[in-house]
Amino acid sequence: MNDQSGVDSANLRDQTWVVTGAAGTIGTRLVADLAGRVNRLVATDLAAPDAPYGVESVAADLRDQDAVAAVLAGAHGVVHLGGIADEADLHDLAEVNLVGTYHVLEEARRAGARRVVYASSNRVTGCYPCDVTVHPSMPPRPDGLYGAVKVAAEGLCQLYADKFGLATVAVRIGSYEERPLDLRQLSTWLSPADCSRAFRAAMSATDVGYACFYAVSANTRGWWSLEPGAALGFLPQDDAEEFAATVPDAARTMRGPQGGDYAAPEYTLSRQRR
Ligand code: NAI
Repeated sequence: MNDQSGVDSANLRDQTWVVTGAAGTIGTRLVADLAGRVNRLVATDLAAPDAPYGVESVAADLRDQDAVAAVLAGAHGVVHLGGIADEADLHDLAEVNLVGTYHVLEEARRAGARRVVYASSNRVTGCYPCDVTVHPSMPPRPDGLYGAVKVAAEGLCQLYADKFGLATVAVRIGSYEERPLDLRQLSTWLSPADCSRAFRAAMSATDVGYACFYAVSANTRGWWSLEPGAALGFLPQDDAEEFAATVPDAARTMRGPQGGDYAAPEYTLSRQRR
């Protein structure tokens, strides 16, 4: 089954995929999960990551377009996780998370790659109130500069699909943890197993031009529509509620913005150079 992108879910085993940010929390786990499912897997990060047997490991700074080009040579697809993973000074976010994502998309296009899977974030909609069910088709309401830059990077993904025919999937990751740690995460938790399911679906779903979905577990208190993920074959299996007894304040109902503390002005202002 070939889609517009030419990616055939049955043929990941014949393909070359690159994972950026492969030394990070999600990347380490995802690379281990993908090893053996993909013909050739290249793990890259600022320093060459420790990689499982059979996985290539390469150092590349996302700010260096030539270095990104060298890593992406021959790739069918890229899972782009690399970058600053939380609120930071906007100049740094722009350089690493926005220009770095441009480097990945543009060098994927130049290399003839067929698909880029982008690690976006739930923080693109963190200013929606907790009592609203958010669907990816709704306008972004980022809860900080990190989220605003993720919105811009999603825009680049849409552009590369519409203008250049590169299939792109923006995966809005929830809160990736072994288990939910606080009241907010009873709504936003993404278990490691569901994270792997989300990325494998994004890599192999057919009929993709541009797609965007929330990668979140099937939480009883969830805030985000699961339909767009299900349409790509992402069916989460875990539920944060199973851990509610271990979560402080679990009896409370969260109110205010979905971003919680991330949405407070000081969270952003304290991270700017001035
Ligand atoms: P992480 O911070 O553990 O990993 C990010 C990796 O990117 C690091 O290994 C870092 O060395 C690398 N990196 C940073 N700057 C780089 C540069 N200039 N060139 C090359 N590599 C660079 O983050 P984590 O948690 O694994 O997240 C992965 C992605 O998922 C990030 O894009 C993050 O924004 C996104 N995300 C993560 C969530 C979570 O709950 N962990 C939630 C929402 C989104």
